[in-house]
Amino acid sequence: MSHLLSIAALLTAVSFALAGEVMLPDPLVTNAGVRVTTPAAWPARRAEILEIFTREMFGRAPVARPAGMKISVMETTPGMMDGAAERRLIRLDWTGPGGTGGMNLILFVPTAQQKPAGCFLLICNRPSENIDPTRVQKSPYWPAEAIIARGYAAATFYNDDLDPDKHDEFKNGVHGVFDTLPRGNDAWGTLAAWAWGASRAIDALVEQPGIDAKRIAVVGHSRGGKTALWCGAQDERVALTISNNSGCGGAAISRGKAGENVARINKSFPHWFNANYKNWDNKEFEAPFDQHELIALCAPRLVYVASATEDAWADPAAEFRATVAATPVWQLFGLTGMTATAQPAAEQPEQAGHIGYHLRTGKHDLTEYDWQQYMNFADKHLSK
Ligand code: GCU
Repeated sequence: MSHLLSIAALLTAVSFALAGEVMLPDPLVTNAGVRVTTPAAWPARRAEILEIFTREMFGRAPVARPAGMKISVMETTPGMMDGAAERRLIRLDWTGPGGTGGMNLILFVPTAQQKPAGCFLLICNRPSENIDPTRVQKSPYWPAEAIIARGYAAATFYNDDLDPDKHDEFKNGVHGVFDTLPRGNDAWGTLAAWAWGASRAIDALVEQPGIDAKRIAVVGHSRGGKTALWCGAQDERVALTISNNSGCGGAAISRGKAGENVARINKSFPHWFNANYKNWDNKEFEAPFDQHELIALCAPRLVYVASATEDAWADPAAEFRATVAATPVWQLFGLTGMTATAQPAAEQPEQAGHIGYHLRTGKHDLTEYDWQQYMNFADKHLSK
């Protein structure tokens, strides 16, 4: 009998998945089963969801901003980009029980700006030539000249400064500096370390002259997109959170997901999430959370999710679905989240609501087309 029941449950789950109508946890129902009906009740529910993602997936950072963290502007260079920008090279240094660490932040501020500029902070998970501060090498992955031309500041850091992207049992990077041993099953993984670094970069950006602290966008591609979402989910200083092709463990709904799944990502990248996340291998349908709630943690702030047509590994349909499933939380605030109900066609960005989305023709990548959509969305919604 119980066998029959579980087969029936499985068939139901599969048919939901096939219909594209997977049953998802409701972000607006508390752990105790109470429906959230007012904006005033959201912070407490948000704290519950944040705790679930911390405990079950990304892991707990042992520190916020470290006491005594030093922010130093090492160099200020006017006249960059034919006079359009000033470059600042900023260094952050910290000390923890395990020693010292730090990160470099590259910042270009537009010079022709009457008012402080909004700023796009890129979490760079590609080789550092993609974010060349000299601008001799230029990459569409970080089109700093184009960002400046649109009146925004462009900032970036290299994720390896925080934690090298390889499994070393969490000895190097900020884990080595701040972890207390033995590490718990909920201890932070590598993506949480990068997200922590993005928040430290914001610590520096908000005190920079010429930057509008109320208009900071965090952008990440793929593993960096998962990281951007975790940063924006936690850090309410992020006005706009941008997930580019983040897929599994990012914007894509895990239940019934095509391409990469939880077991696969945990096997290939055991260091990205915490130990507890392995408990959800092949158990996506039993998990008390799904990725639309990661997006919902950013409400009522702005979010943008982007997919690429050839990125089946990330599952564009599952990425879009999450934006729709997160929308009721924006509606609670009287705002529109995702305004489309069906996935927009390629090159038809949907940007009317507080959640933006586009599908780009092509492969898994962060391109200048993607950047232009993010800036269009910011022009519309990030008040000047
Ligand atoms: C791998 C991984 C993805 C990740 C991607 C990337 O393909 O499976 O989860 O998003 O790398 O970071 O480019």
